[in-house]
Amino acid sequence: MERELPFEPYRVKVVERIHRVPREQRERLLQEAEYNIFKVPSAAIYIDLLTDSGTGAMSDRQWAAMMTGDEAYAQSRSWEDFEATIRRVTGYRHVIPCHQGRAAENLLFGALLDERHVVPNNTHFDTTRANVEFRGAVALDCICDEGRDPQREAPFKGNMSIPKLEAAFARYGGRIPLVMMTITNNSGGGQPVSLANARAVAAVCRARGVPLFLDCARFAENAWFIKRRETGQAGRSIEEIAREFFAQADGCTMSAKKDALVNIGGFIALNDEAIAQKLAARLIIQEGFPTYGGLAGRDLAAVAEGLREVLDEEYLTYRIEQVARLGQRLDGYGVPYLKPAGGHAIYLDARAMLPHIPPAAFPGVSFTAALYLEAGVRACEIGSLMFEHLDPDTGKIVAPALELVRLAIPRRVYSNTQLDYVADACARVRDLGPRLRGLEIVWQPPALRHFLCRLRPLGGRSLIAV
Ligand code: F0G
Repeated sequence: MERELPFEPYRVKVVERIHRVPREQRERLLQEAEYNIFKVPSAAIYIDLLTDSGTGAMSDRQWAAMMTGDEAYAQSRSWEDFEATIRRVTGYRHVIPCHQGRAAENLLFGALLDERHVVPNNTHFDTTRANVEFRGAVALDCICDEGRDPQREAPFKGNMSIPKLEAAFARYGGRIPLVMMTITNNSGGGQPVSLANARAVAAVCRARGVPLFLDCARFAENAWFIKRRETGQAGRSIEEIAREFFAQADGCTMSAKKDALVNIGGFIALNDEAIAQKLAARLIIQEGFPTYGGLAGRDLAAVAEGLREVLDEEYLTYRIEQVARLGQRLDGYGVPYLKPAGGHAIYLDARAMLPHIPPAAFPGVSFTAALYLEAGVRACEIGSLMFEHLDPDTGKIVAPALELVRLAIPRRVYSNTQLDYVADACARVRDLGPRLRGLEIVWQPPALRHFLCRLRPLGGRSLIAV
């Protein structure tokens, strides 16, 4: 019998040197960054798992497309390729280029939302929530119950709860101008949404005459999960599954920095001509002419090529199984994380590892800071620092359901050996246990505070007790 193929469907053509700076230097840099990992210089980071967004490696074909990109202001060849590829992949008629996902959100919500409105989503990503709330509207998460339980193994924990969505319509009725659905569900652990759930959500929206938009940053990874996990889907191509998923909705916002395999880019695609015209008019003010939208021609060309490449099932298998493999290493150490492993990231359960640190003292931030200090690895808290918010009914501050630390895996970048090092580092930080202190905020901006806030260990002492 023929042997199994090797794991990576690539060979390396360009390399980038990385360094692990000495521990004393990491300690100093962490203090200078005031324990905000976003402020630590990239050159002093050994393995950077802060995000999978814009951090992937482009292919030789993408770099070639960059070189032949057409920089004409209007109607460039690269735009034609971008538009045609997005139309083919999504099936939507109108394509609005944007420089990244949040620009797409800003444009769409700027055109459709005001302070009376409520937007249901399975779980809003942080910029999506911020863009809804910036209009004075309410961002309402309607995640299914299994999506709230970090230890429960279920195939589609990103699904939207149909009863919660129906309850939102019963309660807010005419105040809901659109419903969003995030695939895969980043803030809920990179968990996929099933086709069956998309059909059910679409039926609820159609019955109310309300459009459904996908936040489709990781649509190809979502389609791979459907192929592997949903009954009757195994024989279909990723492209077919993705097309059917898009067909349930009326449009999408996309951060191309994820599943279009590029370092910058995004778009809105949709069927409604009147909305498309409104968006194009706003686009000219905010981003650029409607055939480039804040991007260079070469960026458009790289997105088009990336969207073709991401539909390759062998790539997706390597990609998602690399993340799962990191999960298995963590299982070996007994490090708890949100099960099953997500498509683009592992979400460590900081509350379970650091039960002595309450949400208000940010256990996820404490773990993240210690992971950098101990190993030079950069992760990202997805917990109270990022998602604590005001309950619109009670006016009280509520912590999110989970205190997580995300290890986001850039696409086509790190080897399994490097990820083994990360798993080992996580186990060592977990073993610090009660020696690890919580943190307090010294200063914070009014919105998206995790990016800019300044922190210090509680009581102004060291992060790790001796
Ligand atoms: N929607 C989702 C689901 C995302 O994950 C992101 C970005 C955005 C929208 C915004 O896109 O960054 O291009 O403006 N997520 C990154 C992350 C930042 O680290 O998960 P953007």
